[in-house]
Amino acid sequence: MYHSAVYDEPLLNEFTEVKKEKTLRIEGIPKSLQRIKEIGIPNLDETQVARHFHHLSQMNYGVDNGIYPLGSCTMKYNPKLCEQIASWDKFANTHPYQDISTVQGNLQIMFELERMLCELTGMDYFCLQPAAGAHGELLGMLLTRAYHEHRKDFERNEVILPDTAHGTNPASATMAGFKLIEIPSNKDGTVDLDILEKTLSDKTACFMLTNPNTLGIFESDILEISKMVHKAGALLYYDGANMNAIMGKARPGDMGFDILHLNLHKTFSTPHGGGGPGSGPVGVKIKLERFLPVPRIGRTREGVYIFDDAPESIGKIKDFYGNFSVLLKAYIYILMMGDEGLREASEVAVLNSNYMKKKILDSKKYDMPYKQLRKHEFVISCERLKQEKQVTAKDVAKRLLDHGLHPPTIYFPLIVKEALMIEPTETESKKDLDKYVETLVKIADEKPETLRNAPSNTPVKRVDEVTATKNPVLTWKMMS
Ligand SMILES: Cc1ncc(COP(=O)(O)O)c(C=O)c1O
Repeated sequence: MYHSAVYDEPLLNEFTEVKKEKTLRIEGIPKSLQRIKEIGIPNLDETQVARHFHHLSQMNYGVDNGIYPLGSCTMKYNPKLCEQIASWDKFANTHPYQDISTVQGNLQIMFELERMLCELTGMDYFCLQPAAGAHGELLGMLLTRAYHEHRKDFERNEVILPDTAHGTNPASATMAGFKLIEIPSNKDGTVDLDILEKTLSDKTACFMLTNPNTLGIFESDILEISKMVHKAGALLYYDGANMNAIMGKARPGDMGFDILHLNLHKTFSTPHGGGGPGSGPVGVKIKLERFLPVPRIGRTREGVYIFDDAPESIGKIKDFYGNFSVLLKAYIYILMMGDEGLREASEVAVLNSNYMKKKILDSKKYDMPYKQLRKHEFVISCERLKQEKQVTAKDVAKRLLDHGLHPPTIYFPLIVKEALMIEPTETESKKDLDKYVETLVKIADEKPETLRNAPSNTPVKRVDEVTATKNPVLTWKMMS
């Protein structure tokens, strides 16, 4: 329980009997391996420990507590059946070092999942290894580099991104050694074709885009964008974090994207930010297949699953084959939903988003710089509240906690001032959406001091977030 954290020393001593320097010699165990003093762990019985941790779990908030509309994070329902199957012994206890003949079922699942993701996205091949969206982006950038180098096109060292891009996009491109060029969006919040045209050159390696973009707006010029990018000799990268908006409706591969990553831990049922492992598989068009990481999963004519090598592969991007339990949950989810179910999930996610957006706009309490029809998420602004009452987006978000609701994403995308980015997902009922909107409206009319001091009825009040992240103080406090 208390291995590495920093604890409040007096409190710790209160619950432990730290008998310093007490000798506990045991016959038959080499002296060098024997403990010379007792480990300083609290002297508590099982009931106290169970109650403490149960209490801590109740202080938390997750998708099973209520709506969790974190824009861009797709905190949707994760069917319990997926969790249950992933925890079966036969899956949970397999080990990557097992002989390949004993893990044929696991390999079959990964092989079939690759094919399902190809079908859903319109790509030709997938690599399931990356452990997160950002990790997938990095792989995408390394594949971009390998592609241009293979063609002896060594001058292409620039990656273009719109100013709506998620922060991981520039970070991944930089990590792969590219120079970034950010281009401003047009007045509709989408890619400005004139600026893109002027920015593309024989130095451009790639244009990174998410569609719908982070404002929740579908880039309807995507076919034109794809033509322009390819004419310039560059590749088009799709950040698939927003795939929940278009499953079964549109495919990035058909839009002209050459490489993409998906966030299985958003769209395919493992909640993002759940604290556990993630998965960011990368799909490519056939021209990039030869560079994909090894080992690749293949199938012989006899139906035996094997690991294939690939001489021109960029190598490994992760140990073994990816986070298998997340892959498994995505596989079960896709099978359970079927193509109609996935399409319906996207339709309802988009419907919920537009329903909420309209209700909030009608309330006239918040503004929306980009007003057109949205996909699965929308962004509103608290700028008017800031001007009139000195209340910020952060104050509104903290006050939602007092009302027992999880806040949306704040201050992203950067092109909207005092942004609240709301993604209700398909899993929320009309009743819950109405309650959320009513609460936001109520908050806008509350006294500014109440908002600035929020949260006031949560177990932890407002903290200095940077200090809380960088220097967490984990304090043992026994519940009475
Ligand atoms: C649009 C977008 N792209 C990329 C990412 C990165 O994904 P991950 O957090 O899995 O690294 C996110 C994460 O929230 C995102 O919202």
